Amino acid sequence: MTESPSRQLADEHDYVQLVVGAMNTEVAYIERTGRVHADRVAQMVDFTRNFTDGDHHAKEEDLLFPFLEERSAAAAGTISVLLSEHEAARDCIRAIAAALPDVDSTDAERAGAAKTVIAENLRLYAFLLPLHIGKEDSVLFPLMEEVLSVQEQEMLGEDFARVGREPGSAAAVERYHRLAHTLAEPPAEG
Ligand SMILES: [Fe+2]
Ligand SMILES: [Fe+2]
Repeated sequence: MTESPSRQLADEHDYVQLVVGAMNTEVAYIERTGRVHADRVAQMVDFTRNFTDGDHHAKEEDLLFPFLEERSAAAAGTISVLLSEHEAARDCIRAIAAALPDVDSTDAERAGAAKTVIAENLRLYAFLLPLHIGKEDSVLFPLMEEVLSVQEQEMLGEDFARVGREPGSAAAVERYHRLAHTLAEPPAEG
């Protein structure tokens, strides 16, 4: 039987949290050494864009939120806060991705500014996401239980699972699960 939609989202939150932990480790490394693990940060951007946004937030934004809004006018306030948090998180990742090519610039000032932008936005993202996830655990998931019938939750769980079974999607999801675990390992210094 397909897992409930909130269980599926909660499992994905665990992978997101692994990468958030890696972001905090990277911020500490940048502050300690003045250097950036550019490859690791590029992997964090990849994970965040394609798994956190492309898969997880897409399920929330395209399937769950419209369904909840259809069932309960009272859900609209919560959903608009959650959407603005998704957008704030995307802003952080855009800033990191834009700064990343400058990390190795021969212009020291330019490279220094890029490292500062990356550290600040990794820190902000790693601050925002756990709060966002906490809100979904404590407000959104209970709201789903309250507003959606058991049958509707089963339907939504099937829709979520179908997204994961689309051609190419299952392999990509597996790859991002592995990447989250790899990033959660402490990096080699250097
Ligand atoms: Fe969310
Ligand atoms: Fe979420």
